[in-house]
Amino acid sequence: MDAKTHWEKVCTTKEPETVSWYRAHLETSLALIQRAAHSRLASIIDIGAGESTLVDDLLARGYENITVLDVSQTAIDVTKRRLAFLHKQVNWIVADITQVQLAPFVYDVWHDRAVFHFLTSVEQRAAYVRNVVHAVKPGGYVIVSTFGPEGPTKCSGLEVMRYDAESLHNEFGGRFSLVESSKELHNTPFGTTQQFLYCYCKVE
Ligand SMILES: C[S@@+](CC[C@H](N)C(=O)[O-])C[C@H]1O[C@@H](n2cnc3c(N)ncnc32)[C@H](O)[C@@H]1O
Repeated sequence: MDAKTHWEKVCTTKEPETVSWYRAHLETSLALIQRAAHSRLASIIDIGAGESTLVDDLLARGYENITVLDVSQTAIDVTKRRLAFLHKQVNWIVADITQVQLAPFVYDVWHDRAVFHFLTSVEQRAAYVRNVVHAVKPGGYVIVSTFGPEGPTKCSGLEVMRYDAESLHNEFGGRFSLVESSKELHNTPFGTTQQFLYCYCKVE
């Protein structure tokens, strides 16, 4: 099953609050994006945003140049409906991040929580990194969160990769300098915990 078919099925059969990765607010992501975005005009893209409330929280803080990308049209539609008229202030892209060609040097901040770890082939990861290099402005920031070394080995029925800061940074290469990394214990809606890793990198 390809990524789109899988995620459309997930998004059409599960309520946003019932999936393991759900959080009412992505506090760590939000804090890092606020640190990386030097003005309210900063161009921010959220990769595989799903139905998360990050875009709501960014709009509430006055950010004016937000792009939300997801492979699932259903996830995008759910978020648009939740935002009501505010959805017009956001750029929406329905695409697979390993296949889409984004515009060059557009984004000041690239954010991804819980997408990169689903890329289990070298080719998928290389295509993703090519897009980051192509689409993020020199001097921009890349915030990627994956499962950490003690995180789950599967999510949503799919195999995942687990990373520590060094192995995740190695996937991105020399143009990315690792500014900071941290681990987070995420409490799932089922009362279990999952270890996440956050890497905050600057693009040279
Ligand atoms: C585990 S969810 C995380 C959602 C959100 N980032 C969060 O932290 O709540 C993964 C999301 O990434 C999307 N996704 C998975 N693979 C993708 C791909 N190759 N390209 C774009 N989006 C993808 C899925 O549709 C889903 O919405």
